[in-house]
Amino acid sequence: MSRLTQSPAWRAVAARHAATDGITLTELFAADPGRAERLTHEVGGITCDSSKTHLTPSIEESLLALAAQEDVLGWRDRMFAGERVNHTEQRPALHAALRTPELAELELDGVHVSEEVERVQRAMADLVAGVADGRVRAADDGPITQVVHVGIGGSDLGPRLACAALPHHPSAPPVHFVSNLDPADRERALAGVDLERALIIVASKTFSTAETLANAGALFETLAARVGAAAAAGQFVAVTGRADRAREWGIPEDRILPLWDWVGGRYSLWSAIGLPVAFALGMDGFHSLLAGAARVDRHFRDAPAADNLPLRLALLDVWYSNFAGADSHVIIPYGESLALLPPYLQQLEMESNGKSVDRDGLAVDYATAPAVWGQVGTTGQHAFFQWLHQGTRPALCDFIVVREGTTALAANAIAQTAALLDGRSTDTLRREGVDEALRPHRAMRGNRPSLTLMLERLDAGTLGALLALYEHRVFCQAMLWRINPFDQWGVERGKRLARELTPVLRGESPAEGWDPSTLALLERIRQRK
Ligand code: F6P
Repeated sequence: MSRLTQSPAWRAVAARHAATDGITLTELFAADPGRAERLTHEVGGITCDSSKTHLTPSIEESLLALAAQEDVLGWRDRMFAGERVNHTEQRPALHAALRTPELAELELDGVHVSEEVERVQRAMADLVAGVADGRVRAADDGPITQVVHVGIGGSDLGPRLACAALPHHPSAPPVHFVSNLDPADRERALAGVDLERALIIVASKTFSTAETLANAGALFETLAARVGAAAAAGQFVAVTGRADRAREWGIPEDRILPLWDWVGGRYSLWSAIGLPVAFALGMDGFHSLLAGAARVDRHFRDAPAADNLPLRLALLDVWYSNFAGADSHVIIPYGESLALLPPYLQQLEMESNGKSVDRDGLAVDYATAPAVWGQVGTTGQHAFFQWLHQGTRPALCDFIVVREGTTALAANAIAQTAALLDGRSTDTLRREGVDEALRPHRAMRGNRPSLTLMLERLDAGTLGALLALYEHRVFCQAMLWRINPFDQWGVERGKRLARELTPVLRGESPAEGWDPSTLALLERIRQRK
């Protein structure tokens, strides 16, 4: 039996839920005219309106008592102090130190973190400037005119999102991303790219990820066939925690930028993994991204629990996941520039908190991370909003709106949050003269929760703040669930099995020890060959 669900604070939240279940959002607004203002918080150029959730002062009080019981802010302090909060890998989680200088003022295993961070940022700046001023040259001594970034998961999603979301520096080289093992991805990304003029970044913390090595290897072979192996190697840069492997692979020593084991893959945008962002935005733009995130780090570090936005959002997540039965967290950014936000947050939340045991290894008897999914609005309105408005499964929706963005987009986003709140009753439909038989089909129960996160404008600072806000929210969720958000053993297992199956499919090793379904599938593919 989990100790969490038997704990006093958890039981008190459950009791609050039982006592308030059935009170609708419309009733909450009617009873409290100051609700919208009271439940709006601002940090780092982001205004968060949580008034369209079922929070009441008494629910809030019970949730804050849960946060206190679970010592969430104590865990925050331990994380910021460099303790090995990722206990299954014996690693600290110091991604915030990459962007908030005062959090980097500590020593880890005899190494001063701020010195390391500054050293790598200097190397990034030098490379970006070197390409711009022509010091860094292609194999044939011509200028570098494009950048290709090869990576996957946390070594891809963050830089890809930032480069898609933000305007590029006028003189920036175009940046292309290659990720999937499917060669079609590489072909699509590199159509029209002159590889002989490209700087190729191989981003892999472990430098052993199959997809990244396959893509990097294919690019190397193509380039080497044109300019020779030694010259081709000179156009590669590695960002990795395993310099030894990068060196062995053939990347020149002075082109290897380090990554440390105290930065998790899905938290690594702020490190040299963000190199493509530095190319696209310029180093100043990259620093603005870091500065935006730093504003949220400081807020998370300093704000008392009741005003601490990442904590408040995580408490709402727990409320909806564990007490109100929501098994989806839907991310809906309004604006094409943020189209890659849902997959980024999907990895952040699901890879971090898709766990079934607590930090002591005990099976949990409560839900952890819900399914995180979504799509850019308004496109998503024509795909899954029917499910949101009239489906049977509860979900928490995050609407992300840019205040200085397109008016019609903001109108749509806000209209959807209002429709989720209000619904449409059969009474209203009757008054409108809708045929009786049709009323149940057209009625919408409403009372569906949403959060609105309004960015002042979409720039590097607010994007950095938004991503840091979600990072800390996910951390707080994990602390409330007593799980370790920084490992991903489930993914590791799949990677290993794929490595074992590849020679089987090639007919180089026998298919032994697999379940009957897997054996049959393997056989079907082998027969095709
Ligand atoms: O998807 C699993 C994962 O381990 C992520 O955590 C990581 O970001 C990604 O693979 C890529 O790993 P690497 O940077 O080592 O190539």
